[in-house]
Amino acid sequence: DRTSDLSGKSVLITAGPTYEKIDPVRFIGNYSSGKMGYALAEECASRGANVTLVSGPVALSAKSSNINVVSVESAREMLDECQKVFPTSDISIMCAAVADYAPANPSDHKIKREKQDVPTITLVKNPDIAATLGKEKRPEQVLVGFALETDNEAVNASEKLTRKNLDMIVLNSLRDKGACFGTDTNKVSIIRSDKSRTDFPLKDKSEVAGDIIDEILKILGKV
Ligand code: PMT
Repeated sequence: DRTSDLSGKSVLITAGPTYEKIDPVRFIGNYSSGKMGYALAEECASRGANVTLVSGPVALSAKSSNINVVSVESAREMLDECQKVFPTSDISIMCAAVADYAPANPSDHKIKREKQDVPTITLVKNPDIAATLGKEKRPEQVLVGFALETDNEAVNASEKLTRKNLDMIVLNSLRDKGACFGTDTNKVSIIRSDKSRTDFPLKDKSEVAGDIIDEILKILGKV
């Protein structure tokens, strides 16, 4: 019964982009709208879960009262909030498009237009949230990642699954029309830790969320 098959479960979901501050008016970001992550949160809530949605800056709001939205801006803040709830989460789904790098020394004042030289922004590596949680994961917890690829998709996704100690990865490709950033639809492949793979057709993100949760429940049934 899909209306209550997650009842009693705590679910952690990340969604949206992260913003990495350059100065008070500028940031490094990406095109994630949050639609896929919010669809996952609504799907989990409608199936009875208690959801914590750690969200980067997006123009969306959660509808279900079972969703606790924790708004963050940077990858560092997103990691801190995830670590607070991860120990008590049964299922964690990393759907956010986390910036891999952040400016090393964000400026307190607006960087002025240079007369001759263009400014140089030195970057530092951000923490990998999925990999960090992967290291802390207990055997009964399920950790799911996404892979956003442009080429060599399945190989790259499998490599991320292993390196981040995930139980499952949801691959979406920027080569597919109507998939990934901003659209109401997505086209995904699910790759499990035994490397078995299922390809799904283009669907509404709410239906994609349903497929992902069905797959997670199969994993939970085995533990
Ligand atoms: O928000 P929408 O507009 O609906 O678009 C949805 C989406 C395209 C953003 C989503 O479906 C998606 O693919 N999210 C993951 C984007 C991404 O950052 O993929 P990645 O292949 O770079 O990262 C792999 C995994 O590691 C992801 O689970 C990511 O959340 C996680 N990660 C990555 C870097 C980092 N520093 N920390 C992380 O946790």
